[in-house]
Amino acid sequence: MKLERPQQEMLSGRRGPGLEAATSLLLDVGEAAGAKRMLGIQSAHVSGVSYLTGGEGLVKFLSGLAEGGARASAYATLNPAGMDLDRWKEMGLEPAFAEKQELIISLYRSLGIQTTCSCTPYEMGNVPRYGAPIAWAESSAIAFANSFFGARTNRESAVTALCSALAGVTPEYGLHLRKERAPNVIVEVSAEPRDSTDFSVIGHHIGEMLQGDPAEFGPIPLLRGLRPRTPHDLKALGASLATFGVPLCHVEGFTPECESCPLRNIRRRVRVTGTDLARWRREHEPSAPPALVAIGCPQASAPEVDRIASLLAGKRLVEGVELWVFTSRAQRAVAEQSGAVTTIEKAGGRVLVDTCPEVVPYPRSHYPSILVDSMKAHHYIRSPGLAGIPASLLPTERCVRVATGEEKL
Ligand code: F3S
Repeated sequence: MKLERPQQEMLSGRRGPGLEAATSLLLDVGEAAGAKRMLGIQSAHVSGVSYLTGGEGLVKFLSGLAEGGARASAYATLNPAGMDLDRWKEMGLEPAFAEKQELIISLYRSLGIQTTCSCTPYEMGNVPRYGAPIAWAESSAIAFANSFFGARTNRESAVTALCSALAGVTPEYGLHLRKERAPNVIVEVSAEPRDSTDFSVIGHHIGEMLQGDPAEFGPIPLLRGLRPRTPHDLKALGASLATFGVPLCHVEGFTPECESCPLRNIRRRVRVTGTDLARWRREHEPSAPPALVAIGCPQASAPEVDRIASLLAGKRLVEGVELWVFTSRAQRAVAEQSGAVTTIEKAGGRVLVDTCPEVVPYPRSHYPSILVDSMKAHHYIRSPGLAGIPASLLPTERCVRVATGEEKL
């Protein structure tokens, strides 16, 4: 592989062992994938932040890079941590966990990563240009950047995204090449989603149908008949598809590369009907009141926080049910201006930042069941490798009505 002078210098070790290791790993990945050169990246987005998922291995890895003097060469943002860095006690978390989490954040900061702790970097200034090479981890952000901005990223792991942030480059292969971005599945959607939760259900249903697809860079569906109305519909759709390894989807009439997509690679056609959607809604409804209602997967934007506030205005949460709204610091700052944060907290809810419903080490005795408005959150909260807590699903509006006791289960 051909390396430019700055990468050659990094690889030689003259800029420290951290950058040497990062460049060497990217070189190995590129050569294994048949890349001919490195691409300078517009930005990186780094995952692997929660102490729940990363543990001591993550602390050691980051410490090694920091001690080796590594600093980011590209603008890089960071995924959610396992707690709100200010309000972790209110979340019922242990000081020992908080201490480790804070250490991880400080190590990322020392590596020159912006400690945004958000899975929606595109809502806080890390906005990729159409066609720009980027190196993003976090599946939902990858799907959003590829599909809805038309930027180009492979499905980076926590390690490769961090190495790209440090070295400022990524190997040119896979979804950086136009020919690999063409759809390989056509999905005819006749279901009519009513809200973003339905978009997440449709994404999950498609993802399950395409599971195990042998396409080298993942299934890339072309969706026909779907009419997203808000950016959150697209966030919800992409996040659910990404749960099953979809790195890019084309939505006819909405996504920027759709019109110029060649259709010669289509290997499969599937359908999503109104009956499928109704069945999914029914099967995931709660049968008893939850202990916790968790909204914000992907993290909620300021308009979404505003909407939750408008549903809660003048009301109180019912005894025994908590409501946590997950957002980013940047979006909460906007929602504070509108008074939405005050409205939600006055009603008894919490607007949490820096974290997400998936990576919190929930005290199980406090939270034996969780109600969510997103299929991605539903999928992971139940996962035995993460919280392993029973979860159910309702649209946002009904989640809030359950939390206030207006809707009885
Ligand atoms: Fe974001 Fe966490 Fe959901 S990283 S997409 S809020 S599972």
